[in-house]
Amino acid sequence: MYTRIDGKEVSAAVRERISSEVSELKKQGITPGLAVIIVGNDPASRVYVNNKKKGCEQTGMNSFEYALPEETTTEEIISLIEKLNNENGVDGILCQLPVPKHIDGEKVLNAISPEKDVDAFHPVNCGKVMTGDYIFSPCTPAGMVEMLKYYNIPISGKHCVIIGRSNIVGKPMAMLMLKNNATVTVCHSKTENLCEITKQADILVAAVGKPKFVTADMVKEGAVVLDVGINRMENGKLCGDVDFENVAGKTSYITPVPGGVGPMTVTMLLNNTLTAAKRKKIDN
Ligand code: GUN
Repeated sequence: MYTRIDGKEVSAAVRERISSEVSELKKQGITPGLAVIIVGNDPASRVYVNNKKKGCEQTGMNSFEYALPEETTTEEIISLIEKLNNENGVDGILCQLPVPKHIDGEKVLNAISPEKDVDAFHPVNCGKVMTGDYIFSPCTPAGMVEMLKYYNIPISGKHCVIIGRSNIVGKPMAMLMLKNNATVTVCHSKTENLCEITKQADILVAAVGKPKFVTADMVKEGAVVLDVGINRMENGKLCGDVDFENVAGKTSYITPVPGGVGPMTVTMLLNNTLTAAKRKKIDN
């Protein structure tokens, strides 16, 4: 028998703690504020941005949306970011990715003040994640660690195999798992004998972006499987990177899609926004 890791339940517990911290801050005259920039009309990005705004409302934070047209230039976005960097009511700033092709995404991310970079995408914050001494945790990886801890799943000394080496998930997840004393292997599209490696995982993280990529033969009996994938099938249904139906029975714990890792990402973003607001209080 396996346990289904309920991202909604963990998320609700964390949001409850955030909400109560926000109401304490409000008594001191501080309302955490998140500015969200969205460029163009990507429908998936629209859904994510709406979820971020809803999360702010639910936890008592302010949210400020800047929906910019597709033809916006890199310079225009940077000048908006510079304005937001200096706005006292804005504690966190993020630009929803992906941005349209003509925009220099790296320049945009680098323009966000590291003090307000609640996605932890700025090189300064990526560097801090690497040293283990960070202010903002990378949201999706932090969400996964939070889920493991909620279910009292041991990390220390365990072999964590991550499939995927993206800057948003794979690489920072490796850093967080190392900080929690796991032994970490990062696999990717050029990895040879992938199956031999994934079968050694006590904790297997799938962040590939391919529906049902992880099959039962790739998973060790009793492993913990975390699925970061959100793939839209032809029938309109969402599907993870793991073949849940056939894999679940082999695991001890597994995250479903939807309702697993997904809800945690926005929750950890809210947590980072709260952290930024609390730091402002210390600075003043
Ligand atoms: N696009 C997909 N995931 C993310 C995320 O965590 N933050 C931002 N800004 N864009 C994304």
